[in-house]
Amino acid sequence: MALDHRPSSKANDWDRRGLPAWTYDNEALHALEVSDIFLTHWQIVGHVSDVAAPGSYMTFDIGKERAVIVRDQDGTLRAFHNLCRHRGSRVVAGERGQCKNALVCPFHGWVYNLDGTLRGAAQPNSYPSLDKHEFGLRSVELEVWLGFIFIRFKPGQQGSVAQYLAPYTQEMALYQPESMVPAGPVWSAELPVNWKSVRDVDNEGYHVAMAHPALQDLYGFTYHDLFYDNDLRVSKGTYKPGAGRLWSVRNYVKLSQGQDSLPAERHTLWAYYGLFPNSVFITTPETVQFYQELPIDANRSLVRGITYRYPTESRRQRLARYLSQRIDRATYAEDTQLSIWSNESMKSLAFENFYLSDHERFVRAHHDQLRQLLPVVTLDQPPAATDMKRINDGLKKTN
Ligand code: FES
Ligand SMILES: [Fe+2]
Repeated sequence: MALDHRPSSKANDWDRRGLPAWTYDNEALHALEVSDIFLTHWQIVGHVSDVAAPGSYMTFDIGKERAVIVRDQDGTLRAFHNLCRHRGSRVVAGERGQCKNALVCPFHGWVYNLDGTLRGAAQPNSYPSLDKHEFGLRSVELEVWLGFIFIRFKPGQQGSVAQYLAPYTQEMALYQPESMVPAGPVWSAELPVNWKSVRDVDNEGYHVAMAHPALQDLYGFTYHDLFYDNDLRVSKGTYKPGAGRLWSVRNYVKLSQGQDSLPAERHTLWAYYGLFPNSVFITTPETVQFYQELPIDANRSLVRGITYRYPTESRRQRLARYLSQRIDRATYAEDTQLSIWSNESMKSLAFENFYLSDHERFVRAHHDQLRQLLPVVTLDQPPAATDMKRINDGLKKTN
């Protein structure tokens, strides 16, 4: 159910503070965030077209976990821990690749079928007989939603991806993303900030008017948020014919063209679909994209994303897409700077806390979810590293 997106002008009835500064700079908390949030919540890793042929694979690492997603001989997508059952080597290296009909461990050469079962050890007569299931690759939960591949390392509270993202399914299905193809490789960048500083900037549109001249020029004052009762949030901006003072925006608006199958209002709309804890889908008339930030440690994050396009993209759509990428690149650089400034401010003597606008309620909503999952973040001061987990578990029981 979509909730009212118009913040009350007199809404002084909510706590406008964010999480305490220590939560952005604490390795013990980072470890808890990975184990209790990132491993227990669905992560987008890519799209069915990224692993289209039998034997094609991609990898996805987070925290100390690493996964390989592979399409088997029957066309089924499978996810496994990228960890050899002999001595733990990565079974495949790199971010993506193509194997013939088996995964061969680069350490000693154990061979795995694409369904994860062990085909055979190197020099098998040096072992007692090995059961192909018992020594097969360990599975990781995988689900495909509208063509996007999600994995989850540990069970969690989100249910299935289809259930969790049900409020988005109808709108995003209009773009037929399952039949799209990559418009280019995955891009990624390491940022010198805690992942929450990236998300805090991304979780509100209050800064668009000031910090993003191109976005403001494109959809300016039409930008608005919609909240859903399961803590999902959509932001939308619409542009008008003839809009655009900036060269890239003006020409984008001129050329922008959705597929005929899109309803009329979607031909001039950019929409952002947020997913807890760390990802966003973007739909434009020409593309569907996703991006996400993954914590490396308490002070470093990996931001990655990719754009998908229609397989029958017209020349005009391609040109529009190039122009929208120029707008995106500028926006990304601006957001990066803002997340760095926000993050470094928390290490200053002068920093007290946020004082959020009604237009930043989703920053608060995101923090509230973190408070619920990791109640230790409600403490004003950090517990000692060795006590972090125990105190968090204790607070969970009393909540
Ligand atoms: S670690 Fe994979 S074969 Fe030895
Ligand atoms: Fe931004």
